[in-house]
Amino acid sequence: MDNVKVGFIGAGGNASGHMEQVNGIEGAKIVAVCDVMKERADERASEYEAKAYADYRAMLDQVEMDALYVSVPPFAHTEAELIAAEKGVHLFVEKPVALTLEKALEINRAIEQAGVLSCVGYQLRYGDTVDRAKQFLQGRTIAMVTCNRWGGLPPTPWWKVMAKSGGQLVEQTTHNVDMMRCLAGEIVEVYANYALRTLTDVEGLDVPDVGAISFRFENGAIGSLTTSCALTQGGGTGDLNILVKDAVLKWAVESISADPGEYPELEAEVAPSPSIDAVFIEAVKTGDGSKIRSPYSDALRSLDVTLAANRSAREGKPVQTYYAASKG
Ligand SMILES: NC(=O)c1ccc[n+]([C@@H]2O[C@H](COP(=O)([O-])OP(=O)(O)OC[C@H]3O[C@@H](n4cnc5c(N)ncnc54)[C@H](O)[C@@H]3O)[C@@H](O)[C@H]2O)c1
Repeated sequence: MDNVKVGFIGAGGNASGHMEQVNGIEGAKIVAVCDVMKERADERASEYEAKAYADYRAMLDQVEMDALYVSVPPFAHTEAELIAAEKGVHLFVEKPVALTLEKALEINRAIEQAGVLSCVGYQLRYGDTVDRAKQFLQGRTIAMVTCNRWGGLPPTPWWKVMAKSGGQLVEQTTHNVDMMRCLAGEIVEVYANYALRTLTDVEGLDVPDVGAISFRFENGAIGSLTTSCALTQGGGTGDLNILVKDAVLKWAVESISADPGEYPELEAEVAPSPSIDAVFIEAVKTGDGSKIRSPYSDALRSLDVTLAANRSAREGKPVQTYYAASKG
């Protein structure tokens, strides 16, 4: 395929970044942009000489495209992916892929039946440090994984409403959960405690501002993660540590080390990450999806873990992930 024609559903902050990237890729052309806030679609579409729509059904009906980005809030993943897949359009879907696992499984079936490529926006997976970490962990027994993500409150209005975003773990800390899965394997059991302690003065907010979650991995390792959106004035932290015999692997997107000891596979300078958009567009161009590190079928397992945590917090007891339950 010489020229990849790309459509967008959602023209908000995140989509705008992807549009810039796609526009900079040779052989890719943004042909249509849809947003229920039509003025947003108009603005972005005029920038890229594309067609603007307020209704994605009309866009998918009228515009021929090879690939579609779906970058809408979690609650808004409804029919677009299903229609696009049926039309043979390859899909880039932003995380979290949906707000319920039923919807994600339905979309996954449609993708698999149609045989289209899919890529989910877990861009952390493309870092050089991920390859190094995997190399380091090869042949070592993972004992424990710990992770903390403490930050602030994103400005998008839907984010603070549990029924729209799913809360911080589902919406944002999903990146960290995804990285835990990527490096340490599938998660089979989750026990979560949530509380709303400091953001009680934020109008309309009903998401917890702190969460502490315990995990059991399929390979027998255990893990924990804390998450918070209470730091509204900036600051925060993000770390991921993996304990193996005699060493702690300290992973971050741009740095990696193990303590104590010297490990040649961790020493070399960290290479810049490729753009996830370049990987996706190249996959569409060539029909070869092997470089996509987070296809929809994998990404929905990160949703599974975070939704299991929400359920656990509601029920006050450990719960199995769907992944574990469906394996019996
Ligand atoms: N991968 C990443 O690192 C990353 C970073 C930021 C955001 N995101 C994800 O991107 C998604 C969008 O986030 P955002 O920050 O751009 O939010 P946003 O609110 O800025 O943009 C979302 C847009 O979708 C539009 N929209 C909602 N329903 C629609 C529908 N049915 N049809 C067409 N348009 C619709 C809204 O009007 C809005 O303009 C979220 O899932 C978020 O988690 C991912």
